[in-house]
Amino acid sequence: MKANAMRRRVLLLLGLLACAAPARAQTGGDLDVLTAIANRTSIRKWEPRETRPVTDAELDKIIAASFNGPRSSIKVVKIRDPKTIEQLYGYTEYGKWGKEAPAAIAVVVDKSERNFKRKGAAFVVRATYAAMSLGLGTTFQGTANRPAMQQILGIGPDQHLVTVLGIGEPKKDMTFKSPPRASLEQIVFDNFKPATRLAALQPVERAGISLDAFLKKPATSVLAFDPQRPVDERIQRTALEAARLANSSKNRQPSDHLRITNRGLIEKIAKWVNDPALRKAPVLFVQIGTNKPRPDSFGTQLKNDPHNARVVAPGKIPPYYFFEEDIAIARTQFEMAATAMGVGTRTKDVNGLRGSRKMAKTLHVPQNFKIVSVIGLGYASKSAPAPTVPLTGRVFREKWNKL
Ligand SMILES: Cc1cc2nc3c(=O)[nH]c(=O)nc-3n(C[C@H](O)[C@H](O)[C@H](O)COP(=O)(O)O)c2cc1C
Repeated sequence: MKANAMRRRVLLLLGLLACAAPARAQTGGDLDVLTAIANRTSIRKWEPRETRPVTDAELDKIIAASFNGPRSSIKVVKIRDPKTIEQLYGYTEYGKWGKEAPAAIAVVVDKSERNFKRKGAAFVVRATYAAMSLGLGTTFQGTANRPAMQQILGIGPDQHLVTVLGIGEPKKDMTFKSPPRASLEQIVFDNFKPATRLAALQPVERAGISLDAFLKKPATSVLAFDPQRPVDERIQRTALEAARLANSSKNRQPSDHLRITNRGLIEKIAKWVNDPALRKAPVLFVQIGTNKPRPDSFGTQLKNDPHNARVVAPGKIPPYYFFEEDIAIARTQFEMAATAMGVGTRTKDVNGLRGSRKMAKTLHVPQNFKIVSVIGLGYASKSAPAPTVPLTGRVFREKWNKL
């Protein structure tokens, strides 16, 4: 009896200790992918460059990790000269805060590449998390006088400056917080109904691999799905949650998702998007984007109306300059979370495909929405890593083409 009481006490103490200790470190190499996604927030104020400079080695690490993403024509200019940083951010509309960034990288993509804005944004996502894994922070900066900025860096008009990412250690005495996001129910549709069931599921708590391990590996695309292995709904929910938490310009959150589990429909979609490998995916997510109006304040836009683009009179929707970037960020976070949980993805861009009209009709995609991609989620029986990119000739110092 006495021994039993003692054992109970020891167990209770162990339990309390387990609760008190954080499950994992919140920063640095130990950070796991899902925690990183949940904790990422835009950083616009840093420790001063004089006391906490960002080293060249740190920039190199961030850049190398970013090049492990999908194949692209991206090139990067490392900028450490404070004058250049100040000049560049001086040409931004909503980014004057960036003038004090301890260091920066300019992410540049060839305009002749298909979906170059999406490629650029996917690169920035990796760069953001690579910075985070080093205890650093950044913000995707959008609206700016790009020709002027490109001129400063010596970048020609055939190239697109995705963004200048100011990087530094987040200012210590400040707290940074993301504005609220739409709920999962508002942005995921399960066979044409709000995905209440998915929303009610508990997310998977932790990814199998750390952020560091994720960043070191090349992004992998599924070549063939194992059709016998379904994907647990909690895993699906967690990947969607990662998409939901994605940052977007002015927090517009344009990315909605249709979950397709009907085999007949999956077959049809694979045909429409001309991708036979998607036929065997256990589940498909059709990513649809909407031209949501500019919010009054970044936090309130989606509070009550998940599809407020529909209530804006036609022709009254203001231009949405970063739609392509925003949908690509959400999708990249979805892919990241899936990879971290050991599940594969295969993403097909949908852009003016012959079947996309028919597809939109069959899937009841509302008029203001556009199908942007189809993502197959499942375990791979065959997969292909993105090719390794030699960094020579892709990474410059201070100016375009300067090694
Ligand atoms: C494509 C894009 C462009 C952005 N442009 C700016 C910008 O010009 N200035 C700024 O302060 N924030 C900018 N942001 C940051 C967003 O305002 C921010 O991501 C959003 O409000 C959500 O906040 P969070 O990143 O802290 O989660 C941009 C974000 C994205 C994805």
